[in-house]
Amino acid sequence: MANPFSGNVFAKPQAAPHDESRQGEAFKINSAVDGIAMDSQAKKMYLESYGCQMNFSDSEIVASIMADEGYLPTTEMEEADVVLINTCSIRDNAEQKVRGRLKEFRAVKRKNKDLTIGVLGCMAERLKAKLLEEEQLVDLVVGPDAYKDLPNLLKQIESGQPAVNVLLSREETYADITPVRLGGGGVLAFVTIMRGCDNMCSFCVVPFTRGRERSRDPQTILDECRDLFARGYREVTLLGQNVDSYCWSPDSGPELRFAELLVRVAAIDPLLRVRFSTSHPKDITDQVLHAMAAHPNIAKCIHLPVQSGNSEVLRRMNRTYDREWYIDRLNAIRKIVPTCSITSDVIAGFCGETEEQHADTLSMMRLARYSMSFMFAYSERPGTLAARKYPDDIPAEVKNRRLQEIIALQSELSLSDNRDDVGQVFEVLVEGPSRKSKEQMCGRNSQNKMCVFDGLGAAPGDYVLVRIDSCTQATLIGTRIQ
Ligand code: SAH
Ligand code: SF4
Ligand code: F3S
Repeated sequence: MANPFSGNVFAKPQAAPHDESRQGEAFKINSAVDGIAMDSQAKKMYLESYGCQMNFSDSEIVASIMADEGYLPTTEMEEADVVLINTCSIRDNAEQKVRGRLKEFRAVKRKNKDLTIGVLGCMAERLKAKLLEEEQLVDLVVGPDAYKDLPNLLKQIESGQPAVNVLLSREETYADITPVRLGGGGVLAFVTIMRGCDNMCSFCVVPFTRGRERSRDPQTILDECRDLFARGYREVTLLGQNVDSYCWSPDSGPELRFAELLVRVAAIDPLLRVRFSTSHPKDITDQVLHAMAAHPNIAKCIHLPVQSGNSEVLRRMNRTYDREWYIDRLNAIRKIVPTCSITSDVIAGFCGETEEQHADTLSMMRLARYSMSFMFAYSERPGTLAARKYPDDIPAEVKNRRLQEIIALQSELSLSDNRDDVGQVFEVLVEGPSRKSKEQMCGRNSQNKMCVFDGLGAAPGDYVLVRIDSCTQATLIGTRIQ
């Protein structure tokens, strides 16, 4: 089975931390999907996902909508009636990967003229109907807020018309759709709590592809998490581009903010571990940190993307915080949640970045002692503020050299952070057998570090205590002591 979580922020701990696979690896639906009965006569859908966790979570919504239309998932593209690709636009190489894949789909379509090929997600939103011209043989283009229209669009295609819906919505949160769980082995699940983004980081395409920020009704979030727990799931990751700005404003009564939502989800059961991603440095509050400190089942890990360690670059990135502010937030985390691991995203070679400014990023990484980072060379995205305002003037070889320096430093930091864990005992949520050996099991500790250990008697979903004996840069290796 393909690792169903390949390609998301936290779930690829065995890959090198600089692996860009979050924005590129394919995810094929597993045919033994939770919640769908198999029927060999049914119409079949093949779905691949690229991009962030939110895109993977959206694929689970798409699978649910398609299941209601009678489409069952298949891992064999050749037997599919509909092939869907849920795409990412965050960097040029993310789009190029999808274009390459579409070429391969075309070959399948040549053999099976009735096959429908659909492009979903951020690339669909960015390129709209242009995709139909650029990518011959694509029949369907659907943006992230239009998945409920899939049944109608498929009917339109049956009548011989290509179909496009890329309308963005200010309301859609898919709160009424129960996602079909495609990954996570019955133990881990993503729960999207908000959609869109109202920040305008100058490098970023997301506000254009995902539209305005909106928060999902907390009751539906709590119901979904309770249902997951009742079905044996033991970890939920609450997802949003900027979870700290989650805000539910009912017609009457007080607003509900992220810290309170987190506490309510954590209160479902002490055995339900709760993660969240992504935190924005400008918005993360002490209330969230206090909630983490007060609830053992809120995972002690914060993904706090810094992007750059230099205040002038951060200003041009329109991140709305500076180096000092970020350091203040780091100190608050260390003080209020001392056992917390901190992870980051870093961009090398943003417009106009000098060697000194790059050095500030390296020094910030040392200061933050990130346990893991996703690291990228700046890629200009059409239509963004940076593309309009600042020339993409750092030569490719300089960007790449800076990126390599960032990657080398992160490797050092990850290894030293893991070495500090040797000798310690962690509570690990068992996910399943380790990739390398059937006798060993793997799972993550609260800090989101992958632990591999002798698995005798441990089953997915169990919490076990593991003493760490050794480590690599990406994995803690230990012995089960209970
Ligand atoms: N909402 C999250 C980020 C989502 S995009 C946040 O604000 O932190 C994931 C990461 O992709 C970003 O944190 C950034 O590091 C990277 N990224 C976004 N646009 C990029 C671009 N144009 N070039 C290179 N990296 C980019
Ligand atoms: Fe993009 Fe910034 Fe929004 Fe993150 S917060 S999705 S980087 S615009
Ligand atoms: Fe990519 Fe869209 Fe996510 S651009 S990173 S799939 S929000």
